[in-house]
Amino acid sequence: MADLMEKIVSLCKRRGFVYQSSEIYGGFGSCYDFGPLGVEMKNNIKKAWWDEMTKKQSPPAGGIVGLDAAILMSPKVWQASGHLTAGFADELAECKACKKRFRADLVGKTCSECGGELTPPRKFNLMMKTFVGPVEDEANQTYLRAETCQGIYMNFENVLNSMRLKIPFGIAQIGKAFRNEITPKDFIYRTREFEQMEMQWFCRPKDADIFFERWQKERLKWYLNLGIKKENLRAIEVPKKERAHYAKKQTDIEYRFPFGWQEIEGIHNRGDWDLSNHAKYSGEDLRYYDEETKEKYFPYIIETSGGADRSFLAFLCDAYQEIPSGRTKTTKPTKEIEILLKLHKKIAPVKVAVLPLVKNKPKLIKKAKEIYQLLKPNFVCQYDELGSIGRRYRRVDEIGVPYSLTIDFETLKQEDVTVRDRDTMKQERVKISELIEVLEEKLKN
Ligand code: GAP
Repeated sequence: MADLMEKIVSLCKRRGFVYQSSEIYGGFGSCYDFGPLGVEMKNNIKKAWWDEMTKKQSPPAGGIVGLDAAILMSPKVWQASGHLTAGFADELAECKACKKRFRADLVGKTCSECGGELTPPRKFNLMMKTFVGPVEDEANQTYLRAETCQGIYMNFENVLNSMRLKIPFGIAQIGKAFRNEITPKDFIYRTREFEQMEMQWFCRPKDADIFFERWQKERLKWYLNLGIKKENLRAIEVPKKERAHYAKKQTDIEYRFPFGWQEIEGIHNRGDWDLSNHAKYSGEDLRYYDEETKEKYFPYIIETSGGADRSFLAFLCDAYQEIPSGRTKTTKPTKEIEILLKLHKKIAPVKVAVLPLVKNKPKLIKKAKEIYQLLKPNFVCQYDELGSIGRRYRRVDEIGVPYSLTIDFETLKQEDVTVRDRDTMKQERVKISELIEVLEEKLKN
């Protein structure tokens, strides 16, 4: 299975999905850059999440609105949220010989690098420090946010009042978060800079359990609807002693990666932990006035907190297939293994490939380029004329392009092209004049 991860990492680099950050300097602290295909795919994931969250229901009650809060906030936010105390720390053990540091829960009794003796575990806070302004002293110190949701709590009242909302309602946000992870690992699975897709659902305390169940179901459905295989997804209730410091109840949505079952999203009942602590530390009354019951109280918060990078990796792993060569009639069987990335159409980074049948026929190339120009404003397209048609089909399968168009000699006579479906391998001829409409329809679901 480690082998499979190596293949996925290699595909990511070779085809422009993910590169190591600062690679020419030997890489940097487990940070990664998303390449031309990676950014398209990640944007597709974020859009699918955003649409699901903000378009499904409508305000004022029962709706979800969006927010984009600043990464830098007052350091008081992190005092109140509990992130500066032991609650947001991992146990760290250091090798006495080579000085390498490890997360104590992920390491054995001796150093996995050199076999040296380890120090007893001590707490290590994960917040990333920075300074605001020219003077680097404690008064100007703050933190890069470790979870995006704190920006939502900061704006709870602003959003409530400016949008005239009534609970239950939600606020959704996508953005970067930072954690000084001791042992970042497994490619983009655990990194120090990552993106979260978080939704905070504000509700009456008595309704929290019902909404927890509802959001857990909804979130599982989202992954399944986007093609994740049922057998690779599960929800695990987290026992009290392993829960995040703010969670009254917690379920982890886990994906079966090649390196084992691992969390990709957390569903948390945060109770009134955040709003009551921010009220206490700021002196602002953050209670909600319920017009129906004529009561003032802190709403409970049900949070769905997913990682865009972890979903990205889960979608990639789930879609990755190796098949015997010669899948298409145009591909001569060879000893090569063909890679097929069976990504959901919504997630696939490139939607359409435009492939002239042969390279050395100027009329064909001209027509293919015209078709590419026609489609480019409507779909993320790739034009490829290099190598045999079989090899080009293999290249587009490897990056999961749902539809490939072949421009052949019939095209010049009949003004139509062959549309090849990645999954069924079926080919049909479509008039150039109808191409945009037909592809739009095919890519709809
Ligand atoms: N606001 C709640 C919260 O942040 P979390 O379980 O600590 O909860 C939520 O994080 C999600 O953020 C995780 O399920 C994961 O998808 C993503 N995430 C957390 N730490 C990460 C890391 N170091 N690298 C990549 N993604 C991470």
